[in-house]
Amino acid sequence: MNIKKVGVVGCGLMGHGIVQVATQGGCTVIALETEQAYLDKGISRIEKSIAKLASKDVKKGKLTEDQAKDWATEVRGRITGSINREDLADCDLVVEAIVEDLDAKKELFGALGKLCKAETIFASNTSSFPVAEMAVASGRPERFVGLHFFNPVQLMRLVEVVRTDATDEDVYAAARAFSEACGKTPVSCKDTPGFVVNRLLVPYMVQAINMLDRGDASAADIDAAMQLGCGHPMGPLTLTDYVGLDTTLSILEGWCERYPNEPAFGIPDSLRSKVAEGKLGRKTGQGYYTWEGDKKS
Ligand code: CAA
Ligand code: NAD
Repeated sequence: MNIKKVGVVGCGLMGHGIVQVATQGGCTVIALETEQAYLDKGISRIEKSIAKLASKDVKKGKLTEDQAKDWATEVRGRITGSINREDLADCDLVVEAIVEDLDAKKELFGALGKLCKAETIFASNTSSFPVAEMAVASGRPERFVGLHFFNPVQLMRLVEVVRTDATDEDVYAAARAFSEACGKTPVSCKDTPGFVVNRLLVPYMVQAINMLDRGDASAADIDAAMQLGCGHPMGPLTLTDYVGLDTTLSILEGWCERYPNEPAFGIPDSLRSKVAEGKLGRKTGQGYYTWEGDKKS
């Protein structure tokens, strides 16, 4: 099963990166959004990132200026934007990267199940929801996997490939091969809450927020402690801003509802209140830190 044409639904923080790595891996990609303005924003981020990677390769001496320009033009040329779901009908694979809202994801997969060709494989980039529920909603559970990329997609090397009890062996193998074509290392995960990374990472982020809320240490000191004491590239509060406070809250709300007796899944008050105030982290300029563009101010 050779994946050549890919649809990516949602061109936000994660979706734009997935579009980019799939095209860098040689696929043609339809990037689908709800509105032209969101699509334009995502495509513009991709163009900046491609330009950045091309200029790095020139600096490293891997490519000449002309080769880098040709590469960037070729990669960009494989992307088509759309706000029309029907454009995904003949994709070999559709990767969903819309908001972390299970009802929205089920609605989307229900519609895609009816309009895509029978061979199309479906994948969700969900951070926390049961893949099996979306698989059932799609009407083709045997052709459904989780493909969990990491933020920022262009730089993080992992993809968790999640199989349910219904996933066909050849679909699972094709999803792994696609991850590798995107330049990533796949790991195999069962359909459990948060798979491997988020089951460990999100409770750790919650503990850091609780520590800050109790006044045990400042945000800067908590982050410095984990960077310098444990060698993490970012501290947990910077990372929460980076992931998005809305996404982090949606993950926790889903888990608290489904697993009320799991002590690791709590929701800090400050997370709720910041999201209610529209302080969603790096993407809105305010979260546990203040941001100017991509950098903390
Ligand atoms: N495209 C191209 N280049 C990019 C880029 C992008 N999207 N983003 C950053 N870069 C470049 C930067 O421009 C910079 O280039 P120069 O070296 O030329 O300056 C370089 O990459 C390094 O970036 P930064 O200087 O900004 O910072 P850094 O050295 O700290 O590296 C990082 C950034 C790779 C993100 C690193 O901080 C890191 O690994 N952080 C942890 C990220 C993490 O844990 N992600 C997982 C989040 S959880 C998740 O994703 C799952 C979920 O479901 C919630
Ligand atoms: P985001 O809010 O940045 O982007 C979501 C995009 O989806 C928006 O641009 C929105 O316009 C679009 N969208 C919403 N509904 C749509 C629909 N029905 N059709 C087409 N487009 C639609 O969110 P994000 O951070 O990119 O997260 C996307 C998914 O990836 C979520 O499931 C999230 O849990 C998961 N994820 C997030 C991270 C992270 O660090 N933020 C990491 C891994 C996985």
